[in-house]
Amino acid sequence: MIIKTSDGRELPVEMYKIKIIQNVRLIPVEERLKAIEVAGYNTFSLRSRDIFIDLLTDSGTNAMSDNQLGASMLYDDAYAGSESFYKLAAAVEEILGFKYVLPTHQGRASEHLISKVFVTEGSVVPTNYHFTTTKAHIELAGGKVLEIYGDEALNTQSKYLFKGNMDLQKLKDVISKYGRNKIAFVRMEATTNLIGGQPFSLENLRKVSKACSENDILFVMDGSLICENAYLIKMREKGYENKSVAEIVKEIVSLVDLFYMSARKNSSVKGSIIATNKHDLYEKIKPWLPVYEGFLTYGGMSTKEVEAMAVGVREMVDINVASSTIEQVKYFVESLETKGIPVITPPGGLACHLDAKRFLPHIPQNQYPAGALTAALYIISGVRSMERGTISMDRDKDGKELFADLEIARLAIPRRVYTVSHIEYIVDRLLWLYRHRDLIKGLKFVDEPPILRFFFGKLQALDNWGRKLCDAFKKEFGSNW
Ligand code: F0G
Repeated sequence: MIIKTSDGRELPVEMYKIKIIQNVRLIPVEERLKAIEVAGYNTFSLRSRDIFIDLLTDSGTNAMSDNQLGASMLYDDAYAGSESFYKLAAAVEEILGFKYVLPTHQGRASEHLISKVFVTEGSVVPTNYHFTTTKAHIELAGGKVLEIYGDEALNTQSKYLFKGNMDLQKLKDVISKYGRNKIAFVRMEATTNLIGGQPFSLENLRKVSKACSENDILFVMDGSLICENAYLIKMREKGYENKSVAEIVKEIVSLVDLFYMSARKNSSVKGSIIATNKHDLYEKIKPWLPVYEGFLTYGGMSTKEVEAMAVGVREMVDINVASSTIEQVKYFVESLETKGIPVITPPGGLACHLDAKRFLPHIPQNQYPAGALTAALYIISGVRSMERGTISMDRDKDGKELFADLEIARLAIPRRVYTVSHIEYIVDRLLWLYRHRDLIKGLKFVDEPPILRFFFGKLQALDNWGRKLCDAFKKEFGSNW
């Protein structure tokens, strides 16, 4: 909850008490340099024990509530017909309004099934912005993603509040160019992850939904961050100030044909669902569920997680849960922005996003500025962030490098895990890093996987800049930090 302080600041006060904790350690800078070198300058390859504050992702890293943990002990481990599933189905119907639910083991598994069933060779999927795994599954099924975002979407210094909106004119142009038969579906992602967790407005969503239904095109929503998007609508869209997050979520989902979400984010469990009210869509996907995931009533999820998800789906529309990361992100982004650190604005859901093109303007895109920034931040702070730039793009079929629209170092905030003092520490270290940014140079691949290379790729620091950064840090702070 935002509390106004007596000196006029807005403080994001945590609306929970911490009952169980996990110890972390901050290893000295020399050890951090060694760890990132062993990891090939790729934060995905670091070991958790070497990380002080882990902002790689908010996926599967949130704190569960006591009610979720308690519920998980009531699991019914029946292979078929598990009672746990019926509790989840009831929660999904109550909160999201969908009659049919298919659980899968995680979001990308839902993307796999949806792509397998609806994407055909040569078809296209217009979207407000792709996500890495979504794009991979659509392309593996023979389709192509068309990004049809609005003019402000890629402006990292924007004040526009709905950068996740789809451009209606571009959608209409795509429909007339390809025709409804070539469009597998239209995909709208809640708080578009790769462009800075930016929301769509309900006004825009209504228009996209109308264009789809008028043209008989399937409308799919990736709702992995639906509650964050709903909370941002409440904060930003006229007419929604007095609606609850639950009411806004209901209105959002009422506009789509097919919904999926990674449950690892909003509902703080390991799993995912596909949901719909359309019986024919459900029947098309259902036969593939046991082939790839598991029987209908667990779909690859542990039944403990299914139980916890039934509670998590109800809790995710609680304003204190839906707002928990957004308020910390806002505080984080504004603390950095006022000190001149290049961040993506306006603050959105999910994460604080550093704009690596502006942070490190001397590093060309073919030397991966966002990757270099994530490695540099780890060396000087023990904080793990994620590269969301050119390394996260794969080469095209001819092996040509595809430059990302944005070069982002993403610091994702898991729900109810870190406190404001953690954020203050990172802000301080980023200030130091920004003052020493000239020491950071580019990276080059020494081992490059053919698909989703950001996961396992190994890189090297050009000109051995990691060592120089480490020495400069030690000079100021000593070797213990
Ligand atoms: N869709 C969106 C918008 C996502 O952000 C993610 C995952 C997925 C689908 C895939 O879900 O991980 O359960 O398989 N995002 C994570 C992230 C990985 O770090 O942003 P998943």
